[in-house]
Amino acid sequence: MIDMYPFRNAVTVSHMMTEPYARQAHVLVDMTCGNGHDTAFLARTMPDDAVLYAFDIQPCAIERTRQRLQDEGLGDKDVRCRCGSHEQLLADVQSDIDIIVFNLGYLPSGDHKIHTNCEITLKAIKIGLNKIAINGIIMITAYPGTEAGACEEQALRSFLQTIPQQDFHISSWQPVNEVHCPPVLYIVQKRGKRHYEEIPLHQD
Ligand SMILES: C[S@@+](CC[C@H](N)C(=O)[O-])C[C@H]1O[C@@H](n2cnc3c(N)ncnc32)[C@H](O)[C@@H]1O
Repeated sequence: MIDMYPFRNAVTVSHMMTEPYARQAHVLVDMTCGNGHDTAFLARTMPDDAVLYAFDIQPCAIERTRQRLQDEGLGDKDVRCRCGSHEQLLADVQSDIDIIVFNLGYLPSGDHKIHTNCEITLKAIKIGLNKIAINGIIMITAYPGTEAGACEEQALRSFLQTIPQQDFHISSWQPVNEVHCPPVLYIVQKRGKRHYEEIPLHQD
């Protein structure tokens, strides 16, 4: 029996797809660190000399993330936790970021009224598009199962559809047989010249 099941949901698929990139990354950003699960995954996977920024608008999320890093023995990794709104904090990070992760929605076991805001999310993604390195990835998990989440997911999809395919590969993943409205994963990768010129399309 195969002992792994990353196709469970958008977050597990996001981690599976991010892992090989995180292993080579120099600069990573978790835009919504919440309870710290994504931050801990990135910190565990990235090289020892990489820098990981972890942002959240709620002080309790920053506390929980710091605690999780300690509990998981990741205190030696260079993780810079910052409390504030991610579009402002991301503006201060240098360009050529290898990985940016958005896990939208509200903090589980927190105040569900504090939900990521559609306009701010799009603003932050636009900043991310300008800062992401060639071949770098932006992973966005959206939660259309609530009214605010559905609105945000729709706006996100509409925006991503306008981005020129010459500049970014953009795709999505979502379960098709779930009775409720499951989370959707959007995967954005910045294209670069090397991609077309040096990588063979077919290998014999
Ligand atoms: C689904 S939770 C994130 C889960 C988290 N990544 C984890 O692994 O536990 C969404 C988070 O987004 C945060 N958030 C909402 N608006 C934000 C903003 N403008 N800037 C930064 N964080 C924000 C919330 O406080 C909440 O903690």
